[in-house]
Amino acid sequence: MVGRLVAAGCVAAEEEADELLAAATDLATLEVWLQRRETGEPLAWITGALQFCGRTLRVDRGVYVPRVQSEELARRAGTLLPMHGRALDLCTGAGAIAAHLSTRVPTATVIGIDIDIGAVMCARRNGVRALVADLDGPLRPVREWDLVTAVAPYVPTGEVRLLPADVQRYEPRAALDGGEDGLDLVRRIVAAAGRLLRPGGWLLVELGGTQDNALTPLLAASGFGRTDPWWDEHRDLRGLASQATGSPGPSPLR
Ligand SMILES: C[S@@+](CC[C@H](N)C(=O)[O-])C[C@H]1O[C@@H](n2cnc3c(N)ncnc32)[C@H](O)[C@@H]1O
Repeated sequence: MVGRLVAAGCVAAEEEADELLAAATDLATLEVWLQRRETGEPLAWITGALQFCGRTLRVDRGVYVPRVQSEELARRAGTLLPMHGRALDLCTGAGAIAAHLSTRVPTATVIGIDIDIGAVMCARRNGVRALVADLDGPLRPVREWDLVTAVAPYVPTGEVRLLPADVQRYEPRAALDGGEDGLDLVRRIVAAAGRLLRPGGWLLVELGGTQDNALTPLLAASGFGRTDPWWDEHRDLRGLASQATGSPGPSPLR
């Protein structure tokens, strides 16, 4: 198995072989799964599950596979959600971040939103209260949320072709492509969070490259003050947390 997975280009062949072996109920299933993995199909779609922040999460075929890098955002968000607080996870996908928040703060109200019905069904199977919508479309613009999280599509269109071939072949383009500079949806999320967060509430978004700089004027104009980006061990930007002040600054367009 390991040899076949290595030949198919899997970088973590031994771990993947262990996972397939543990999940398959018989040899025939194992062979079919191995063949699917050899074509590059995501492992989580084949086994139907992955580990995220220490819990098993269901991942349905066709739904974006939550990344280990997003655990940092989930963990940071978990520390910012008060007991009995209210959190909104925009672009929830399989509901990984929302599910972590509910586990971490069981008394909180956590809602996930995704535009893709398949993702919403998957999030619900993971125990998340999830709605199908275009971002905050159905929500009243009242500043009563404590936390807004979003791992939205943020890859610039021109860089989608640089993603691993299997990701491009299998995962939904709408989950990856963030428009010309990658921030089309993230900008809308910042504006939405400015309408929804109470003063003192937090927005956490996943980002890459130098996207934090591009967002700074919009954050100020949308009523955010303190902003803390974070980086991984390679010093690559991974996201930012920004705190709502409740008083929007001047428009960045003026
Ligand atoms: C990069 S995936 C992240 C999913 C999840 N947050 C995670 O970390 O696993 C982005 C998700 O955004 C959703 N999405 C794209 N455009 C959207 C929109 N306008 N409104 C709501 N969700 C959207 C996609 O369907 C996809 O599930």
